[in-house]
Amino acid sequence: MADFSLTHPLSGFFAPTRFEADVHDCLVTGKIPAELEGAFYRLHGDWIYAPKQRDEASLSADGYISQFRFRSGSVDYRGRYVRTERYLNQVAARRQLYGYYRNPHTDEASVRDLENPGRRTSANTTPIILAGKLYATKEEGLPYEIDPNTLETRGATDFEGDWKSQTFTAHPKLDPATGETLAYGYEAAGLASDDVYLYAFDPAGKITWEVRFKVPYPSMLHDMALTKDHVVIPGGGTITSPEWLAAGRPHWAWDSTRPSYYAIIPRGGRAEDIRWFFGDQRSIVHTANAWQDGDTVVMDAPVAEGNTWPWFEDVHGAPFSMNPFTLRRLTFDLAGDSNQVREAILFDRDITSFTRIDDRWATRANRYVYVQYVDPSQPFDANLPDDSRLRPVNSYARFDVIDGGMKSYFAGPHHVLQEPTFVPRSADAAEGDGYLLGTAHDLVEMRSELVIVDAVTMSECARIILPFRNAYQVHGVWASQADLPLI
Ligand SMILES: [Fe+2]
Repeated sequence: MADFSLTHPLSGFFAPTRFEADVHDCLVTGKIPAELEGAFYRLHGDWIYAPKQRDEASLSADGYISQFRFRSGSVDYRGRYVRTERYLNQVAARRQLYGYYRNPHTDEASVRDLENPGRRTSANTTPIILAGKLYATKEEGLPYEIDPNTLETRGATDFEGDWKSQTFTAHPKLDPATGETLAYGYEAAGLASDDVYLYAFDPAGKITWEVRFKVPYPSMLHDMALTKDHVVIPGGGTITSPEWLAAGRPHWAWDSTRPSYYAIIPRGGRAEDIRWFFGDQRSIVHTANAWQDGDTVVMDAPVAEGNTWPWFEDVHGAPFSMNPFTLRRLTFDLAGDSNQVREAILFDRDITSFTRIDDRWATRANRYVYVQYVDPSQPFDANLPDDSRLRPVNSYARFDVIDGGMKSYFAGPHHVLQEPTFVPRSADAAEGDGYLLGTAHDLVEMRSELVIVDAVTMSECARIILPFRNAYQVHGVWASQADLPLI
């Protein structure tokens, strides 16, 4: 049983906020770059009612979407809960109705649905833009469309019936060369199923391709990567089964004896064309990028050599200890006979699983990877339990995967950073010429701040100060007027 007090405290900065807000003309330190015209959206997990179990994963918290709207050097803030079926049911009942992470067996009978567990999604992971619309996504159910200006929830969508999976990934990928978006759902045919349905959307948002396939064993398939001709989906380590779920535990457990696996799927191809590769036990949550190099598919990603989920117990009884991520290069030789992945460490420095690139370089060899990490050489002066899992993520870094260089930005002595999002200085700027946007918790002032960092010099341009704290962000996305109908 995980130690809830350390891994998921519902106190201090981690307590539910339970309010929605509009802030006109936020306080700013520094100067907001004139190029930033548009909106930065973040999706958070913010419990409307506290979880029933003390060892529940924070992954289940209710979806909350926020917007920093940039206009002519000033910023307005708006935050709203995503009106999921889950949220509305709880508000009507005035209490928590749902049980463990992705386990409807543990829900109260009034909301339990074992046939379509996607109905219980909290839509709390990634704000995505697809064909001019904004969605709140989470891999356990369908996406909810959100009004990009008011943040009102328009409802869950199955894309006019063309999307057949019960689930939709939190990490679809846009191919900047073609305008096509690739997305998948896993456990597509129901709880603990080994089915994956993968789709392509054209730039207008119409589904143009579907392929259905089965994985070696059901496992968390959180992220994917695109090349010009392939979709790469890594998985493994996490396991589940109908019997495990019926026993009333969180969705996943960790099995250190299971291999990692990697599906290399030809875009537009058939299930029988998929190449499967395997490797040692690994935790891969996010990818940075992928591309083709002759007959080789290359993928860069933060990789850990064991369990990275404090809430998901080891089936062999091993106590949890955090396995650090390092940025690694995985290569898949499509011309050879081996089905083994090759792996090399690019940067031997512990980072988190969150990593981003200049998305205009998706599908081709990129130079820069942006990460968040703990720099223990920097001062820290807030009170936190002396636990390595709670050491503050106080820095961003720009890794140069060509020359091995690294540049860092330190957010402050009582600040905890969340994922950086890259925004190009202009549509035709060189790779990496732009800004990083990311929020920081100020643990002393108990407020959230949006930092804007020059991605070339890694120096701070401005900081937007909220007069309250936001719950922890998962992912963010930048939208210009060309991406969404902003007013
Ligand atoms: Fe993610």
